[in-house]
Amino acid sequence: MNKNLGLSFLISLAFVGQVHAQRKTITQRVDSVMKLMTITEKIGQLNQYSGREVTGPASDRKNYLLNDIKNGMVGSMLNVKGVKDTREIQAIALQSRLKIPLLFSLDVIHGYKTVFPIPLAESASWDLDIIKQSAQVAAEESAASGIHWTFAPMVDIARDPRWGRVMEGAGEDTYLGAQIAKARVLGFQGEKLGSVDRIMACAKHFAAYGAAMAGRDYNPVDISKQQLHEIYLPPFKAAADAGVATFMNSFNTLNGVPATGNAYLQRQILKGDWKYKGFVVSDWGSIKEMIPWGFAKNLSEASEKAIVAGSDMDMESEAYKKELEKLVKAGKVDVKYIDEAVRRILQKKFELGLFDDPYRFSDEKREQKVMNDPKYQSITKAAAQKSIVLLKNTNQVLPLSKSLKNIALIGPLVNAKRDQAGSWVVYADTANIVSVYEGVKQKLTGAKIGFSQGASITDTSTVDFSNAVKMAKNADAVVMVLGENWEMSGEAKSRTDIGLPGKQEALFNAVKATGKPVVVVLMAGRPLVFNDIAAKADAIIYAWFLGDQGGNAIADVLFGDYNPSGKLPITFPRNVGQIPIFYNHYNTGRPVTKPTDIRYKSAYIDAPNDPAYAFGYGLSYTTFAYSDLKLSTNNPQKNETVKVSFTLSNTGKVAGEEVAQLYLQDTFASVVRPVKALKDFAKVKLNPGESKLITFEITPDKLAFYDEQKGWITESGEFKVMVGGASNDIKLKSSFELK
Ligand code: NOJ
Repeated sequence: MNKNLGLSFLISLAFVGQVHAQRKTITQRVDSVMKLMTITEKIGQLNQYSGREVTGPASDRKNYLLNDIKNGMVGSMLNVKGVKDTREIQAIALQSRLKIPLLFSLDVIHGYKTVFPIPLAESASWDLDIIKQSAQVAAEESAASGIHWTFAPMVDIARDPRWGRVMEGAGEDTYLGAQIAKARVLGFQGEKLGSVDRIMACAKHFAAYGAAMAGRDYNPVDISKQQLHEIYLPPFKAAADAGVATFMNSFNTLNGVPATGNAYLQRQILKGDWKYKGFVVSDWGSIKEMIPWGFAKNLSEASEKAIVAGSDMDMESEAYKKELEKLVKAGKVDVKYIDEAVRRILQKKFELGLFDDPYRFSDEKREQKVMNDPKYQSITKAAAQKSIVLLKNTNQVLPLSKSLKNIALIGPLVNAKRDQAGSWVVYADTANIVSVYEGVKQKLTGAKIGFSQGASITDTSTVDFSNAVKMAKNADAVVMVLGENWEMSGEAKSRTDIGLPGKQEALFNAVKATGKPVVVVLMAGRPLVFNDIAAKADAIIYAWFLGDQGGNAIADVLFGDYNPSGKLPITFPRNVGQIPIFYNHYNTGRPVTKPTDIRYKSAYIDAPNDPAYAFGYGLSYTTFAYSDLKLSTNNPQKNETVKVSFTLSNTGKVAGEEVAQLYLQDTFASVVRPVKALKDFAKVKLNPGESKLITFEITPDKLAFYDEQKGWITESGEFKVMVGGASNDIKLKSSFELK
């Protein structure tokens, strides 16, 4: 063979090899890896460690982790980030016998380097496009930093603002929550896994974690099967349908059985009925937590129950690693469960392309280029603007005039930076965060801008009140920025008192007593109770925690450069005693029909039934009119879609966006139905005087409900159709009779 011929022969061999590799399906490739694996190596793939110490100074824990990685005893690491560190740790995994790459995972909840509004805030935008973009930016940045997998979105429906984790989700509504779940999954993952600028998403916490009893984190959940299927599961189903790569189970019990050991949830519903093909990671230590729950008497029993129930990967319990092999050898756990879990995990590693190049996400040049791309700041600013909810605006005190000469900014959050990032941020880096003080200063370059803290969030001192009051007296306009600090919401941050902490409401009363109009900006990770402010403030802006561009977005709303368009994704109670309070409740047999007559009615004798602010509520600087409601049919068949159309008009003087909402009530059924339930919405931009024809669709699945014996069913009869700008502001009504 001459030299040239030899070379081309080799090239063509390599080509055939490549074609062959390409022709092999991922399933075949998974199979061929599985064939090489020992039981110990298989169990290694099911083990996930947190690696905060793994890149730090030498320690026993570090040696222990590195040793396990080198021995192929680890499938995934969380909390290792950055190209340098992920490369270094991946290289150690590649020293193992089979060189199976690690998955790097992290809680990228609302942004990575660029901080976006907290998820509850973004949900107030009802803007699926910006929500998707936000997840996409988080994916681009984290993927460029070596991350393959985020533990987001949290799709838990939450009806209890005492629970600190309301900040992480989409609020109380199932329909809105399902749409947002889908948008977030598509934003993180793109249409298909494998692109180096996208990461795997994780629908968590499966399931019903948001229903933790009394709003206390990690508490049990006791709900009916009907509630589980109708209220809590649909956002998970939407995430699964959108192709979410992974699920995380939850810390709670569901009707007595911990979610981690719950075969009904994981085997029957998720992997059975829904035919879910991704894998399930436990929550942190949730396998071993089944022992204190009183569900497993030791780590061995906990491991057995978890793997049999369908928990594929063990986050930080070291239960599988220590116990599974013994259980298989003792004949207590069928190896088929382990094989199935390994297969699901390897499948994702192949889909991400890690077997072809384990370092493909860890590219230093890309990391430098992507991180802090200025275009991301404009996206997070748009997200922040859209997340703001205007709760009150007496006498159109807002927007403020840009020709103000002397403005007083009062309150502990005026110049807050870290707080505006909220809980769950990867980099607590305040360099990019624009405070309200900075945002206002940039906007009003010619004005005198006073700033007095007035009160603190964490103590009850009133010494600074007089200074704040003096400043208010001398100002043309007063803006107070009050609320919680970032550490008061998030995981393990439940509160029994969701009022403004410290003396902030007293500070408000003192400032308001000056007689000056007072605009209040509230920041928090949950709905707060603020009755004095609600009654007396001239305007209230609910600003959650808005991320990097919060201060600019708030200044835009204060001075009319952005017309607020957010609507509440969760009900705001008047007091803690009303909780749980949500809009889609049942009517009861003794509903209050006249608020003045509550005798022997389902009511409180010391507070009204209705909330401080209802689900779907939010004001604008313009006004909208709804007219001409039409249904495509008043007598649909069960398989027919009903189209609901109406005209939406901007009747005010400025352009604005309205979130038009469609609610339905199934008037009589074999299982009582809520007074109303959201079934569609549209965020519509209109110029002054402009009108648009809006059409909503009621597809047959929107008429179904869950019967505990029969599953999802639809019953004939009357359905009421309601269209409006909030759950308590219905503008148009009609009905149809389902055949
Ligand atoms: C516990 C939390 O419940 C979960 O949401 C998070 O993803 C993990 N810790 C990992 O940090």
